[in-house]
Amino acid sequence: METKKCIIDKNFIDCETLKEAGEIIKNGGLVAFPTETVYGLGGDAFNPESSKKIYAAKGRPSDNPLIVHIYRIEDIHKVAESVPEKAYALFDEYWPGPLTVILPKKKELPKETTGGLDTVAVRMPSDPIAAEFIKQSGGFVAAPSANRSGRPSPTVAKYVIEDLDGLVDMIIDGGDCEIGLESTIIDLTEETPMILRPGYITPADLERIFGSVSIDKTIISDTDKAKPKAPGMKYRHYAPKGELTIVRGKSEEVIDYINNNSAQIAALNKRIGVICTDETKASYKADSVKSLGRRSDERAIAKNLFRILREFDDEQIDVIFAEGFENNGLSMATMNRLLKAAGHKEVYL
Ligand code: TXA
Ligand code: MG
Repeated sequence: METKKCIIDKNFIDCETLKEAGEIIKNGGLVAFPTETVYGLGGDAFNPESSKKIYAAKGRPSDNPLIVHIYRIEDIHKVAESVPEKAYALFDEYWPGPLTVILPKKKELPKETTGGLDTVAVRMPSDPIAAEFIKQSGGFVAAPSANRSGRPSPTVAKYVIEDLDGLVDMIIDGGDCEIGLESTIIDLTEETPMILRPGYITPADLERIFGSVSIDKTIISDTDKAKPKAPGMKYRHYAPKGELTIVRGKSEEVIDYINNNSAQIAALNKRIGVICTDETKASYKADSVKSLGRRSDERAIAKNLFRILREFDDEQIDVIFAEGFENNGLSMATMNRLLKAAGHKEVYL
């Protein structure tokens, strides 16, 4: 299949191109599009054939449900059977934005879209290109992240093209994704709302609204081997081609450990990459040393992680060492992705 590629400037949105993209969706085709979190791979949420095509293009297991993207709040009633009162406080504060809610699904929504579940994940993105695209598509776009299954989610169009060129009808390049990590997922079907995937909207943000929230334990540890409530969280994910290890401990000890190991591994003719912070960048010796940003800048660190994992692949790095981060606030989301990318391989000093 020939994939059409279009560039759209967020500040001067080209509605003609988005109309064309919308027609593709209405006709059962697939379009990759930018959002504020990561790029999405969109199809018509009400067309079961479109959802099947998404799974095929991504190489994704079909028991892993898709998020339905809408562009106005009232449309939630077309995909969710009921919306609890408490959800509206959340929408007031965080929609449109990087937050996905799980609700009981409307029976009209095909089970192919929800991976066979009775619940549906719904998100209203704030990115203006995404919003106009969803509107032009008829209002309901099912979309996972626009990567081949298992790869880091794309935050720039270049990596969408790398994974999906020839497999989808159109790729819209809208520049960098502002946030760079996928949306926070909160399950509102539970008595106490439960975070199924951490993201830009933090547990503290959600506690301010609900009083208390619980967190799916499988997010941070895989020691108990429990099954995560978001089916997608059980799969190996975000993995770079190189073998990634997270190293935790006092900064000087982490630097020594990584430099000593890098020297030994380099002797085996392997290429080494290091993921670090501005404060420590100059201290590492490796083939490629990349900083996520200042250690105190949680947003920069979250935004740059997926892009850097992809860049190491471009540079054919065989072994990667990464500094670790705190397990709270936005850093909890970054650590969740980093741990999954590393297959939970961590060294504590
Ligand atoms: O920021 C995002 O959420 C991006 C952009 C494109 O919107 N989308 C995204 O989709 O990350 P995806 O498919 O890569 O991740 C969706 C996650 C998966 O882990 C899936 O299992 C979970 O949401 N999910 C979807 N529907 C669910 C449901 N009904 N119950 C529990 N988890 C669900
Ligand atoms: Mg994904």
